[in-house]
Amino acid sequence: MAVEIKELTPGFVGEVSGVDLTKALTPDEAATIEDGMDRLAVLVFHDQHITDEQQLAFSLNFGKLERPDKKSNITQAKDRRLSEDMADISNLDKDNNLHGRSDRQRLFNLGNRLWHSDSSFRATPSKFSLLSGRIVPATGGNTEFADMRQAYDALDDAMKAEIEDMICEHSLLHSRGSLGFDDDLTEAEKQGFAPVRQSLVRIQPNTGRKSLYLSAHAGKILGMPTPEGRMVLRELNEHATARQFVYAHEWRAGDLVMWDNRQTMHRARPFNDTKDVRDMRRTTIAGEAMTAVQADAEAA
Ligand code: OGA
Ligand code: MN
Repeated sequence: MAVEIKELTPGFVGEVSGVDLTKALTPDEAATIEDGMDRLAVLVFHDQHITDEQQLAFSLNFGKLERPDKKSNITQAKDRRLSEDMADISNLDKDNNLHGRSDRQRLFNLGNRLWHSDSSFRATPSKFSLLSGRIVPATGGNTEFADMRQAYDALDDAMKAEIEDMICEHSLLHSRGSLGFDDDLTEAEKQGFAPVRQSLVRIQPNTGRKSLYLSAHAGKILGMPTPEGRMVLRELNEHATARQFVYAHEWRAGDLVMWDNRQTMHRARPFNDTKDVRDMRRTTIAGEAMTAVQADAEAA
C-alpha cells in the first residue's frame, strides 16, 4: 500500500490514502506525509477509526507533543475527560454529558469559532495539530482552514514592506475578551494568559515560503497605538479569510485532519452544540522556535 496524496484544493489541502493509522508508520510513509504537510499545509485522512493511543503514536512521527495546560485552557486537571496529552475539542464534560448552555467550559470553547492558529499565545507556538473526529453532528460543525501563504502572496508590495518587521502580542485574554469572556476569568487564569510576542510575517523553515501569522489571540502591534494596531489586524484578517483562501472540511466520523499552524488559520463552524454530540480530540506537535524575541528576554 503506497501513501498517495490527492490535492483537494491546489497547493493547500490534500486527501491522503493508502495508510492505516491504527498501525505504526514506516519511515517512508512518515516522510511522505511530512513532505505533503510542507508542500500543502492541510491533510485529510478518511476512515481512520483510531484510539487515543493510536492517535498519539501517529502524532509522534512529526515531533514532540505539546500538552494542554494552564497557559491554554481553563480546565482543571480533575475535570479533564481525556489524558493530559490530548486537547478535548468536544462539547462533553468528564462524565460524557453535554455542556449546558451557560457552562464555563462551553463559553470558553466558543473561542474556537474565531479564526486562529493553535497556541499562538505560547512563546514557542505549535507546529502541527491533528484533530480526530470520533463523533460528529449530522449538520453543522465544519472546520474551515485559510491558507496564510496565499494570503501573504496576494498582498501588494507596499503592504508586504510595511508589515515585514511587525511584531504582535498574542494572548487568550484578547480572543476570549473579544467574546466578553474576560469578566469571567479568575486572577490566576489571567496571569497564566500573559501575552507573548509573535512576528506578523513568518517563514516556513523547510520551504522558505512566507506567510501571514494571524490569530484571534493577536490584540496589539508593538509600537502602534492599540486601536490602530487592531484595525491593521482586522484588515489583514478580512483579506486573509476571503473565500478564495478557504477550504471547508465537512466531517465524517473517522476523519483525521492535520494542519500546519505556521502556515494556516482555522475555525470551527456552529452546530447545535447543546443538543448534538461532537467528540473531537486533538494532539498537538510542539514548535521548534520562537518567531520573535520575548519581552522578558529583552529586559534580561
Ligand atoms: C482545534 C480547533 C476547530 C473545530 O482543534 O484546535 O480549533 O472545528 N478545532 O473543532
Ligand atoms: Mn484550534
